[in-house]
Amino acid sequence: DTHIVLKQRQPRPAYIPGKIDDPDYVRIFDTTLRDGEQSPGATLTSAEKLEIAQMLAKLGVDVIEAGFPIASPDDFNAVKQIADIVGNDVFEDGYVPVICGLSRANQKDIQTAWDAVKGAKLPRVHTFIATSQIHMETKLNKTPDQVVEIAVEAVKFAKSLGCNDIEFSPEDAGRSDPVFLYRILSEVIVAGATTLNIPDTTGWNMPWEFGDLIKQLRENVKGAENVVFSTHCQNDLGLATANSLSGALNGARQLECTINGIGERAGNASLEEIVMSLALKGATKFSGGPGTGKLFTAVNPVYITPTSKMVSEYTGMACQPHKAIVGANAFQHESGIHQDGMIKNKSTYEIMTPESIGLMRGESQSGAGIVLGKHSGRNAVGTRLRELGYDLDTEKLNAVFVRFKQVAERKKGGLEDEDLEALVSDQAGLSN
Ligand code: KIV
Repeated sequence: DTHIVLKQRQPRPAYIPGKIDDPDYVRIFDTTLRDGEQSPGATLTSAEKLEIAQMLAKLGVDVIEAGFPIASPDDFNAVKQIADIVGNDVFEDGYVPVICGLSRANQKDIQTAWDAVKGAKLPRVHTFIATSQIHMETKLNKTPDQVVEIAVEAVKFAKSLGCNDIEFSPEDAGRSDPVFLYRILSEVIVAGATTLNIPDTTGWNMPWEFGDLIKQLRENVKGAENVVFSTHCQNDLGLATANSLSGALNGARQLECTINGIGERAGNASLEEIVMSLALKGATKFSGGPGTGKLFTAVNPVYITPTSKMVSEYTGMACQPHKAIVGANAFQHESGIHQDGMIKNKSTYEIMTPESIGLMRGESQSGAGIVLGKHSGRNAVGTRLRELGYDLDTEKLNAVFVRFKQVAERKKGGLEDEDLEALVSDQAGLSN
């Protein structure tokens, strides 16, 4: 029963750069504090970033991309503080999050990123350069040969600083020539890269195209077996989660994502969607890539709701009410048919429990997440009244229900318990 039982959480394999001992394990790389903060208007203070990072560690993400240290002294200090504090917070099972800093592919950026993260127990530098024709020609004004050379030098430089966990991203990979990607990625592996992150920077790919790209890269990049492939999917066509899962299906074992899916433009793949998809279906539906296809993460979903709320509050970016998993309506039911089903058996209209993502039933109106509005039926109104202590006979319930429908027709957002109680006392007054 998917509604009640989440797959037993499995132990997280020990962290090794570029290698995962369990071929079914999927690393979760959270970039809320870096790409997420690039959401227009979503500026965070250092104190807020630290608190979010502490929450991400409770959630159990494998990697926290804490920021872009060269961007400003504030960014540098925030990343350093997170590396020094959260990056040394060893949990009971030995888990400690990797702390990552982003850098362009030049020495100054890389040195700054390294200085910011090196205090962590598991520091990672993430360096990138664009590889699509349009970016190389018009943004970088570089030839493909020059881009390869810059990428290789960048990775070598990071390694020369003592960093042994280096992520490389060919920016706009989703629109790059795959043959050029084979070449640049093979060369950065020789230079020392341990994670190859494949960004669909403009959200251009369809799930089957992106999955195929990951498959082709795993088959054609020299040394691919010695690195972890990663996805970084933007949501311009609303496909970021689907693309990330398609990447996993084809062997990517790190998925980059943000809480509430925040990020540049239409945002990034959302952590809660990826994690819950894998928690509910990872065991049965993912057959591609290495391993048995029984994919799992080590994220503890009960921290999803508190983390989502914290990120909304600190960024000032509320989720739309119908946002999957964390939207205010995600566990609310309005139509009479749905409410009737929910009262009889919650699995009729919910595929996961709110408790499994840390949302207590009591936080929603009525135990079954029922919103009493104009589409609600008599059974739902009667059930709520009984929960409130009113055991009305059929005649009285019918009379209250007639009035309920008249009021609900005009009341946006549904009726509160006090409104229902008022209807009952009106009815009692009339019948006395
Ligand atoms: O969207 C993108 O391409 C990025 C990379 C730097 C990973 O954010």
